[in-house]
Amino acid sequence: MKIKHAEFIISNTDITKCPKEQIPEYAFIGRSNVGKSSLINMLTNRKSLAKTSGKPGKTQLINHFKINKEWFLVDLPGYGYAKVSKKDRSAFTKFIYEYLEKRTELICTFVLIDCRHEPQKIDVEFMQWLGEKQIPFVIIFTKIDKLSKSKLEKNLEVYKTEMLKNWEEMPEIFLSSAEKGDGKDQILKFICKTNDQIKNML
Ligand code: GTP
Ligand code: MG
Repeated sequence: MKIKHAEFIISNTDITKCPKEQIPEYAFIGRSNVGKSSLINMLTNRKSLAKTSGKPGKTQLINHFKINKEWFLVDLPGYGYAKVSKKDRSAFTKFIYEYLEKRTELICTFVLIDCRHEPQKIDVEFMQWLGEKQIPFVIIFTKIDKLSKSKLEKNLEVYKTEMLKNWEEMPEIFLSSAEKGDGKDQILKFICKTNDQIKNML
């Protein structure tokens, strides 16, 4: 799939104010600084459609971007950012969780994980929660340009072993580099295929 058109629609913290159009929606979530906004820019061939930063905590709202006038990409704030006050953190968590649980247009959630790190409790527990709520998700391991191929393979094995303690099978996995463009074709193909499946169900 080629992205010919990408436009910012609205930012908010209130799911009742999210766009009313009933078109497929895909959301990016993960720890602060994992590269959610950068990946959205990479996928849409735009330098700063979504705001990025070297410092964690940049994205603070639910941001809807309309793609090819047919579906939404949603950039969410990161979780696990220590510098946000406890009060802000629980407010953050509340609207993100509400969005994930109640947004009926949300077809699939992309959980982004930095490929350099060992499995983190916060990510593992978050995916557990998605599973309990039956919210469909896939995993994207980000920043693969920062690891050698052998180290990346090793880290993926460790991750799979950890997840299979709780899961019968692994969700679909993608590897990405916003820096080098890796993963773009695979992720867009997945979205395109999913959009087609939805159309066929209607
Ligand atoms: P929050 O909005 O704070 O939750 O962060 P985010 O997940 O949206 O991360 P963001 O896209 O702002 O990127 C954080 C930092 O990581 C920036 O300095 C990016 O340039 C860098 N970064 C993101 N993706 C990649 C990647 O694939 N490779 C490399 N080398 N750096 C990346
Ligand atoms: Mg961001």
